[in-house]
Amino acid sequence: MCGIVGYVGPRPSEDILIAGLARLEYRGYDSAGIAVIDQAGHLGMRKRAGKLSVLRDDLAEHPLAAGTTGIGHTRWATHGGPTDVNAHPHLADEGRLAVIHNDIIENFSELKAELVSEGYEFLSETDTEVAAVLLGREYAASHDLVAAFRATVVRLEGAFTLLAMHQDQPGLVVGARRNSPLVIGLGEGENFLGSDVAAFVEYTRNALAIGQDQIVAITPDGVTVTDFDGADVEVEPFQVTWDASAAEKGGWSSFMAKEVSEEPEAVANTLRGRIHDGLVAIPELDGLDDLFAGITRIVMIAAGTASYAGMVGKYATEHWTRIPVDVELAHEFRYRDPVLDSHTLIVSISQSGETMDTLMAVKYARERGAATLSICNTQGATIPRESDAVVYTHAGPEVAVASTKAFVAQITAQYLLALHIARVRGTLPEAEMAQHVIELEAIPRKIAKVLETETAHIAQLAHWMADTRSVLFLGRHVGYPIALEGALKLKEISYIHAEGFAAGELKHGPIALIEPGQPVFVLVPSPRESALLHDKVVSNIQEVRARGARVIVVAEEGDAAVLPFADEVLHIPLAGPLFEPLLSVVPLHLFAMGLSEAKGLDVDQPRNLAKSVTVE
Ligand code: M6R
Repeated sequence: MCGIVGYVGPRPSEDILIAGLARLEYRGYDSAGIAVIDQAGHLGMRKRAGKLSVLRDDLAEHPLAAGTTGIGHTRWATHGGPTDVNAHPHLADEGRLAVIHNDIIENFSELKAELVSEGYEFLSETDTEVAAVLLGREYAASHDLVAAFRATVVRLEGAFTLLAMHQDQPGLVVGARRNSPLVIGLGEGENFLGSDVAAFVEYTRNALAIGQDQIVAITPDGVTVTDFDGADVEVEPFQVTWDASAAEKGGWSSFMAKEVSEEPEAVANTLRGRIHDGLVAIPELDGLDDLFAGITRIVMIAAGTASYAGMVGKYATEHWTRIPVDVELAHEFRYRDPVLDSHTLIVSISQSGETMDTLMAVKYARERGAATLSICNTQGATIPRESDAVVYTHAGPEVAVASTKAFVAQITAQYLLALHIARVRGTLPEAEMAQHVIELEAIPRKIAKVLETETAHIAQLAHWMADTRSVLFLGRHVGYPIALEGALKLKEISYIHAEGFAAGELKHGPIALIEPGQPVFVLVPSPRESALLHDKVVSNIQEVRARGARVIVVAEEGDAAVLPFADEVLHIPLAGPLFEPLLSVVPLHLFAMGLSEAKGLDVDQPRNLAKSVTVE
């Protein structure tokens, strides 16, 4: 889950590499490094442990000689700690060859033993240096970087994106990918490589997506893509639909603050073009009616926040389509011999489209005959390319490690999918479908209202609670996954112990955690829409209050019944029960962000994490 960028062209490559790394830093920030072939044909390299700013300061003080061919890397450490020496690039062939790498080379120990037995020496603990030394050995034999690169990648097992350049062949960067992302940016007299399009969107929106087990060579004037055997392959062009400003912080204090503010747009953009005459018809799914008519089961596969979106989606999908839905954590799925057949639809949910656990689960299911559909936010990503169909969320680039606007877009996309399938299967009366569409279309305005009315209040609450050591979240029905999401966000960016529970589960154990002063957030269902659920949750509030908990409720405007039992009330506008999660999650996103800010933490780049988890 490192960030990779490569450039060849007429411009000073250092500027392009550093700008690209800044946009890819969400992928890992344990160290950063660049290598540049200068005008004299010499390869210069600089790498530093820590965030990109450390490298930037170093380069400002001790500049590298300028050049127009280069590669850059930002690291999330796997093999070897986050030190200068383990940072990428790694050099070989007496410093004339530089390599950067994302993911894990699983057979690195045996390759290393082979190279050590031949007298090669290693400086770092990384698997990447093994690939660099291997490539150096192959280059010494052929003096052809592309041929040497091909001979190297076929020896590697595991997942990798690998980029390399050699000072004897300036104006050439080669790359390869297996189960790890790499896209090409096409410029005029210049070309780019990146882990995702953010690496080069400032310079070009014309991109090519490279397939599995393919090698790319870029020069200023051309791009060639071959498979690992050297045969030419066709690659799929696509246009990036957003511009560089979408991936800028603008005037916001953090990317997360900006992205939470974009939750209304994320929902609106995901709905756009998918509602016709008041009913849902997703154009990308044209031609799949027979598939949807024949499925007997849906399995949602995802990790982290995306899995909570899947849990929310399950309630609506089962209710509207009458198809049984399971939600599976991607990393558990393929290790337990799941029952799969051609009547099973796997719906993977992933913001990045690169989460390795999810990718592997999708491949596993596809190999066993299941149909696969991806809900994804990132164009050209691997998971949609490995799936039979894709419904893109159009949340725009999400940079903060904590996923927020993608979450509401993922729920929206699932609701669209469920209503699309319900229409195909005829499981909902048209009038009811039309009512759900009206509800969905009102969500952006209602989220905007939550942001407008609650942001300052929640920032104040977070400030008061800055010393809190533990927070619990309770919810029932669709409120349960929102409780899990609220707890995950708090752990992730505030480093506070937090747990989400199904409110009904409380008395089966977790209530023992309650002691005087324990803060408990409770998601209260609408009393108008589900009086029974509402009253049960109010009873749960009383149970924790009786034991001294400090209760913060997220409740519908006008819900007077909760007021006597709440220490704080965060209001959301009225919505149907299945639509409440799209609103009730917003205060929880704001709260986690506010607490992180109040503690003076790095909201966007929390410790130990990376946004895109491309290792299993
Ligand atoms: O890119 P994905 O949606 O597949 O990522 C899945 C999780 O890694 C992700 O949602 C993670 O839990 C977030 N950092 C939570 O905020």
